[in-house]
Amino acid sequence: MCGITGYIGQRDAYPIVVNGLKRLEYRGYDSAGIMMYDGEKIHLTKTKGKVADLELITNNDEKRKKGNIGIGHTRWATHGVPNDTNSHPHFSHSGDLVIVHNGIIENYDTIKKALISRGYEFKSDTDTEVLINLIEEVKKKENCKLGKAVQLALTQVVGAYAIAVFDKNKPNELVVARLGSPIAIGVGKDNEEFFIASDASPFVEFTKDAIYLEDGELAIIKKGKEIKVRKINDDKLVDANIQELELSLDQIEKGGYDHFMLKEIYEQSKAIKDTYRGRMLANEGVIKMSGVDNNLPKFLNADRIIIVACGTSWHAGLVAEYLIEDMARIPVEVEYASEFRYRNPIITPKDIVIAISQSGETADTLAAIKLAKSQGAFIFGVCNVVGSSIARESHAGAYTHAGPEIGVASTKAFTTQITVLSLMALRLAQAKGTLSQSAVNEYLQTMQQIPNQVDELLKIDSKIQDIAKVYKDSKNCLYLGRGFNFPVALEGALKLKEISYIHAEGYPAAEMKHGPIALIDENMPVFVIATRKGHYDKVVSNIQEIKSRKGKIVAIVMEGDETIKDIADHIIEIPDTKEAFTPLLTTIPLQLLSYHIAVMLGKNVDQPRNLAKSVTVE
Ligand code: AGP
Repeated sequence: MCGITGYIGQRDAYPIVVNGLKRLEYRGYDSAGIMMYDGEKIHLTKTKGKVADLELITNNDEKRKKGNIGIGHTRWATHGVPNDTNSHPHFSHSGDLVIVHNGIIENYDTIKKALISRGYEFKSDTDTEVLINLIEEVKKKENCKLGKAVQLALTQVVGAYAIAVFDKNKPNELVVARLGSPIAIGVGKDNEEFFIASDASPFVEFTKDAIYLEDGELAIIKKGKEIKVRKINDDKLVDANIQELELSLDQIEKGGYDHFMLKEIYEQSKAIKDTYRGRMLANEGVIKMSGVDNNLPKFLNADRIIIVACGTSWHAGLVAEYLIEDMARIPVEVEYASEFRYRNPIITPKDIVIAISQSGETADTLAAIKLAKSQGAFIFGVCNVVGSSIARESHAGAYTHAGPEIGVASTKAFTTQITVLSLMALRLAQAKGTLSQSAVNEYLQTMQQIPNQVDELLKIDSKIQDIAKVYKDSKNCLYLGRGFNFPVALEGALKLKEISYIHAEGYPAAEMKHGPIALIDENMPVFVIATRKGHYDKVVSNIQEIKSRKGKIVAIVMEGDETIKDIADHIIEIPDTKEAFTPLLTTIPLQLLSYHIAVMLGKNVDQPRNLAKSVTVE
């Protein structure tokens, strides 16, 4: 959602806070702001627009950059439209306290009314300004320190938050707290300096020691003092669990690519390899996934597997449904987390709930597993961000080792999710005996080919660019696929929508006749995934139905396909592999197609309008 950063120490805080915001801009980028304390005065600068717009202001006024303490914010608006006033940080009524906040305070309106009745005035429409004034009110009434005031105030709010608060009367400390939204604290040498951020990327080059606050925790950060972490609801002290970061700086730089999305598309062969490394020994037919192995009886005796996720992760869940039912013969249901959590679903202790999430912070998915957990289900998380909320909320899990995914449009997370879920399906099939050992061996040896085949496929990028040129001015597009590739059609359509803003729909190919075919004419490009597997002939007839209505056809086919090339306007060949693994290859050309179209249309590929990398509020 939003990104927050902060610094307290000996160094100049300004460059650390502002560069940190730039690293977090993928989280939200409709307005930005910074508070600097120069030892005497607070300098608060904020504006609608990107961090670059903020720098335009601060670069013309050096005093706004002075100080060894600063907090910053890059926003994805929820309460109050993106404008200068609603952007963060926010002052309290007296101007003594300052806050940055990522999340939503659901009961802010009730609190606001109570504060107005006590003479508080509000400049913005945000829930955040209500929170800082509540903290101020508690501090006055209880005559207590900032930490205590924040803690007491937070026991009165409902919602999600990661906050950093500064008090000009206590300039040597910052108070941070979290419930639902992530916050990491970078611990400098001998506690001489501390870094605050929504994830570790803003401070990875300064320290490898980080504390990830748990839900319902608050930390008081003082220069030169050991951090104190307390429980918000009972003020109890808890152990500040310092973890060593595995993240490296180059992982979060563009590495010479024009966009993070393109870099991440080209990282997929390595990401898939890193994801199955240490989990499969193809020549011995061995699959090792501790999260599954340690809970095998649960999986083997489960009534069903329920997959909950959102967006691209939901599409990976659909592929998993085909994989697990086909290979392991365990019933699978795939649910939009946002619907699942509110439709009063029937959940029993014999259910396994798999939560798929790249960020591990998506609020709807997190809430869905909390609901399922409260009804006794076993939660298995498939996440990419180590230490993320969903990972910590799950009973067991498996990380996708895609590395940081910074482009808002998910690419390598999708293929690594499918890699993990494929290994899970094979492991369960092996354990259940629904696949023979030789079949499992064959699958594993085929999986081992995939990274090289991805690299092969990336070599036709320029051809895909040429096809993109032909269709970049389309107003609508249709994506069709069958079986394992129906979810890939949905994913292809989502990629085009989210970065080029062209309307696109994905459909099971056979479903076309039941409606979407009405859309087809010479202006409607149709991207069809037609791998020579399963129901190939049926897809060929679907393509002929489109052709006979003058639709433009771009077909993704197996190399050497002689049939479709005579019907389609463009064909993109992919290397041969097992049907179950075709989604790992068919999705690549669709990622590149949407990327090139968006670039040709001059869109901001890495930070598309109205989107954010992880949606941490409902
Ligand atoms: C995909 O490109 C989008 N960024 C979005 O649909 C995303 O997949 C969705 O928000 C789920 O995110 P998660 O995997 O981090 O939970």
